[in-house]
Amino acid sequence: MSASETILETHDLLKEFKGFVAVNGVSLKVKRGEIHALIGPNGAGKTTFFNLLTKFLQPTAGTIVYNGVDITAESPAQTARRGVVRSFQISAVFPHLSVLENVRVALQRSLGTSFYFWRSERSLDRLNDRAMQLLAEVGLEHLAQANTADLPYGSKRALELATTLALEPELMLLDEPTQGMGHEDVSRVTQLIKKVSAQRTVLMVEHNMNVISSIADTISVLQRGVVIAEGNYASVSRNPQVIEAYMGSAEAALEGAH
Ligand SMILES: Nc1ncnc2c1ncn2[C@@H]1O[C@H](COP(=O)(O)OP(=O)(O)OP(=O)(O)O)[C@@H](O)[C@H]1O
Ligand SMILES: [Mg+2]
Repeated sequence: MSASETILETHDLLKEFKGFVAVNGVSLKVKRGEIHALIGPNGAGKTTFFNLLTKFLQPTAGTIVYNGVDITAESPAQTARRGVVRSFQISAVFPHLSVLENVRVALQRSLGTSFYFWRSERSLDRLNDRAMQLLAEVGLEHLAQANTADLPYGSKRALELATTLALEPELMLLDEPTQGMGHEDVSRVTQLIKKVSAQRTVLMVEHNMNVISSIADTISVLQRGVVIAEGNYASVSRNPQVIEAYMGSAEAALEGAH
């Protein structure tokens, strides 16, 4: 695989919490343009792995290489500026603003220091144009003036996606984007992820196997901090170790319920 085909790679990434190893030597490659799913039982280390990628946590050992650059020692802000952006958990929307205003806030935030640029009328028009474009991308343009608090759950998640897109992510990290959703919202958000992934790379943690089988190009399976399998849905889903990992966790859950 050539360097430009790989957008992100980790080498022996390890995170220890007071003697407990949550991520245990993960070497993962994410191909540019793909939807790459990270799956695994509860507690496998998926969110911790994401937190290492965004620099929310510092690794105990190992390296993170993004677009050929070792970014392991960078700050969260530096890494975000490179286009590594996480959605759904940090990009909470403001309930008392309108849908359009929420996207405008995200756009202004992404511009940071160039705030003064936006004070002229013409720039404000451009800001509105860009905000409407982003709303159109997630199918919310007809709700631009609606109060965010009044939106149904699925539309709120779509709005969160629009505010993430405002940050112009090159690699989007989605941690359980369909969690807590009903059937209709799940398929809507799944299609939305597929759509917005067209110009980007997506790394997503997801428990819903229908979502994974319909949109993931590559799947990595994490168990107790270790990648135990990798490949497309067909190969991963019939891997005996994967089947055992999931049955093991189901049994553990049943035991826990007793
Ligand atoms: N800050 C922390 N301090 C100590 N232990 C932690 C910390 N964060 C996570 N852990 C532990 O590391 C393990 C992995 O947790 P993590 O949240 O990464 O799992 P996960 O794969 O995202 O699980 P889930 O599917 O339930 O979201 C768990 O055993 C968790 O208790
Ligand atoms: Mg998690």
